[in-house]
Amino acid sequence: MVLEKNLRAPVPGPQLGETLPASRASAETIELLRLRRSTPADFLTDPGPDAQTLASILTIAARAPDHRRVTPFRFVVFEGDARRRFGDVLRAAFIAREPDADEKRIACEQRRFLRAPVVVAVISKVDRNHRTPEWEQILTAGAACQNMLIAASAYGFAAQWITEWYAYDERVLAAFALQENERIAGYIYMGSAKEDPKERARPAMEQVVTRF
Ligand SMILES: Cc1cc2nc3c(=O)[nH]c(=O)nc-3n(C[C@H](O)[C@H](O)[C@H](O)COP(=O)(O)O)c2cc1C
Repeated sequence: MVLEKNLRAPVPGPQLGETLPASRASAETIELLRLRRSTPADFLTDPGPDAQTLASILTIAARAPDHRRVTPFRFVVFEGDARRRFGDVLRAAFIAREPDADEKRIACEQRRFLRAPVVVAVISKVDRNHRTPEWEQILTAGAACQNMLIAASAYGFAAQWITEWYAYDERVLAAFALQENERIAGYIYMGSAKEDPKERARPAMEQVVTRF
């Protein structure tokens, strides 16, 4: 269910220095986090977030924890025809990688971004001269991805964080004009689910939690 239209209007962000609640008890947030599941891109369809909703999702994503306020990320949005145009980049890059691939496979790669109405490339952008360690800056980009997934879900959209081969392919990265300090943290696909996902296996908590 998509959030009602009046709840999708962008809410002005807090003012610099404004006092904000230190916590916000929310059973709905607990429920969202407890039950959140990714929806595979192949199971996404229209509609995706409208312009206002997407602007809010990106604003929320950008509120990721960020040691010393480096802002070590940027977002590239793909909607409408831009997804098809990016397909031409994917096609050429894929043919260069796999010259023997048949047309069916090439067309499948070309259509990757057409699987969802909105795709956002999250680019990790580290400042190597900053005293915040590079590792921490990369973690912030990952947190921005997770914030984006949560915000999309809260607005009523299904989403998936994907890298696939085109997060690493030199030719594709050139299309983003990536600098040497930038990497793709992921592509966040957003839309509506054709089918609700099922729960997957989760780590046994005793394997991931110890006490010092
Ligand atoms: C950095 C990163 C890259 C990922 N890349 C892919 C991918 O290329 N293909 C894929 O099917 N899942 C990928 N995933 C995993 C899915 O986004 C998803 O997390 C996984 O299917 C588990 O589902 P869940 O998020 O509901 O727990 C990636 C996850 C992360 C964090």
